[in-house]
Amino acid sequence: MAGVLQGQHDLLRLPAVLLVLFAVMNAAAWTAEAGEVSDQGTVVVDSAAAIATTDDNFICAGLDWWPSDKCNYGTCSWGNASVLNLDLSNPVLLNAVKAFSSLRLRVGGSLDDEVIYENEDLAQQPCIPFVKNDSALFGYNEACLPLSRWDQLNDFFHKTSAQVVFGLNALNGRVPMQDGSLGGPWKHENAQSLIRYTADKGYDIYGWELGNELSGKGIRARIDVAQYAADLISLKKVVDEIYSIDQGKPLVIAPGGNFEAEWYSEFIDKTKASSSLDVITHHMFILGAANDDHLVEKILNSSYLDGVALTFNGLRDVVRESNAAVVAWVGEAGGAYNSGRHLVTDSFVSSLW
Ligand SMILES: *[C@@H]1O[C@H](CO)[C@@H](O)[C@H](O)[C@H]1NC(C)=O
Ligand SMILES: *[C@@H]1O[C@H](CO)[C@@H](O)[C@H](O)[C@H]1NC(C)=O
Ligand SMILES: *[C@@H]1O[C@H](CO)[C@@H](O)[C@H](O)[C@H]1NC(C)=O
Repeated sequence: MAGVLQGQHDLLRLPAVLLVLFAVMNAAAWTAEAGEVSDQGTVVVDSAAAIATTDDNFICAGLDWWPSDKCNYGTCSWGNASVLNLDLSNPVLLNAVKAFSSLRLRVGGSLDDEVIYENEDLAQQPCIPFVKNDSALFGYNEACLPLSRWDQLNDFFHKTSAQVVFGLNALNGRVPMQDGSLGGPWKHENAQSLIRYTADKGYDIYGWELGNELSGKGIRARIDVAQYAADLISLKKVVDEIYSIDQGKPLVIAPGGNFEAEWYSEFIDKTKASSSLDVITHHMFILGAANDDHLVEKILNSSYLDGVALTFNGLRDVVRESNAAVVAWVGEAGGAYNSGRHLVTDSFVSSLW
């Protein structure tokens, strides 16, 4: 989640200011290096009024589940970066996360909805990692998060003071419905066991997010809005039961999908009376698929990138009109979806725009 944004109302113009400053600084560096005639320029910054504010956690990052054999368009880019095998003692990683003090870190992605959490009820079953299966919904069989790994991850989160948002499996207990969606109420017991374990251990989780890209039309699967709202209300009840008032209560977050005005509006509406939803998240991959022939032209084209304003304006309107106490965040972004493109999305910031 490069760029979790709170209070999105005016955020669009801020990066423009930053970019102007960067451009000026770059120009200065360039002329200095050339060591020749340099033009003098004056930049006037009117500091009387802020055109936008961001919260302290404007910069964010994501940790995904994808295993090393996850490939897109012939490239397998994830290496050992999965939540399940990332080297958490790597000093570069530790110090990088720590340096943001505190970095908002979203743990999640498509495979959220294929993870079960180890607990006593599952003691008889082996806790296995993801195994490739082309017929499975997300290309992998269901995997299990060992509690020992969860302990290690939380040790890392604590050492680095990260503010963690964890994506919970929202597909537990679902059955195919006639309209093509997945339905039946969310089976919350397994998630509940993880949340309870986490709270009992005193691990600090900033927010629990329900599901990944299952809203609206969905990406590989979808859940009807009324059902999703009911499930979110169940998650809120679980969180309320487990965390006492005086403990910092984690935020309840959903749905981490593509913004679709009607669906998002209904979702907020249906969770409003119970004040169950704290943060509404959407994902942003402005460049399109990672194999797009015009990726380089797109990332260098500010008019193209400005197109994302439509999404932000739409979301701002939906949140405003709802009169609900909900804030909107970008839950995941990365420029190009399907694992990004080497030397483009790993070289340029595309989602600060
Ligand atoms: C991932 O980790 C395994 C086991 O430690 C190692 O053999 C492999 O080389 C690593 N892969 C990458 C891409 O670093
Ligand atoms: C692959 O996934 C399909 C669909 O979920 C499942 O029916 C099948 O048993 C899986 N195959 C293996 C080898 O696990
Ligand atoms: C930049 O993007 C805009 C909006 O999508 C498009 O109309 C224009 O042709 C693009 N310019 C270049 C040089 O690709």
